[in-house]
Amino acid sequence: MTDVVPTTALSEIKLRLLCHDDIERIKVLCGEWFPIEYPDSWYHDITSNKKFFSLAATFRGGIVGMIVAEIKSRTKVHKEDGDILASSFPVDTQVAYILSLGVVKEFRKHGIGSLLLDSLKEHISTTAQDHCKAIYLHVLTTNNTAIHFYENRDFKQHHYLPEFTGKHRICCAVFCRGRASLPRAALSTAEQCEDRQVTTVQGGRD
Ligand SMILES: CC(C)(COP(=O)(O)OP(=O)(O)OC[C@H]1O[C@@H](n2cnc3c(N)ncnc32)[C@H](O)[C@@H]1OP(=O)(O)O)[C@@H](O)C(=O)NCCC(=O)NCCS
Repeated sequence: MTDVVPTTALSEIKLRLLCHDDIERIKVLCGEWFPIEYPDSWYHDITSNKKFFSLAATFRGGIVGMIVAEIKSRTKVHKEDGDILASSFPVDTQVAYILSLGVVKEFRKHGIGSLLLDSLKEHISTTAQDHCKAIYLHVLTTNNTAIHFYENRDFKQHHYLPEFTGKHRICCAVFCRGRASLPRAALSTAEQCEDRQVTTVQGGRD
């Protein structure tokens, strides 16, 4: 996009919702960022279906970053992540699942990833999303930059999904808020992971 990114780039970043016209651009970006090829229907969904929180970060009109998260009922959490929340949380509790977060390489380490993540946190802090108590995601265990990024922002490693994409293993991280800190189920799962550190999760509002 641009070779020289000004150190003040963050001050020029604008946020807006993704729309249908962005599809071709974000296909290219996702192709560069992620080891998965998403079907066309995925791009259509994230730019049109209201259940997704899909935000673009733009610099001088061009997309340089995006975050896509699905806010869903805890009952819709995939079986493999079923214990993200302790069973004591009410059935109507919601969670936010980050499907993707990426920033154009030249624009990284300017605060844009943090801005996008903060925007999601802000979004689920609104009264309308009052039942949303956790954010979680999957990340390749080889993606140290992303793991470090999330851990520095209150996410904790939760469990491994060893069978995903051949030799790669995925770990799932979660940011919890509410009266409970780390759900008991999460702790017991996390403690079984021999080679990873587990600490408590920062509490939030309730
Ligand atoms: C993970 C990712 C989204 C982070 O985006 P980013 O825009 O670089 O994130 P930020 O700039 O907010 O933060 C990254 C680091 O740069 C630092 N930083 C931010 N502004 C800075 C500045 N002006 N000068 C120096 N460092 C800065 C941050 O403190 C942070 O370091 P920390 O994690 O040690 O605290 C990005 O690396 C990426 O797109 N990776 C590829 C896609 C991917 O793997 N996504 C995650 C899986 S869903």
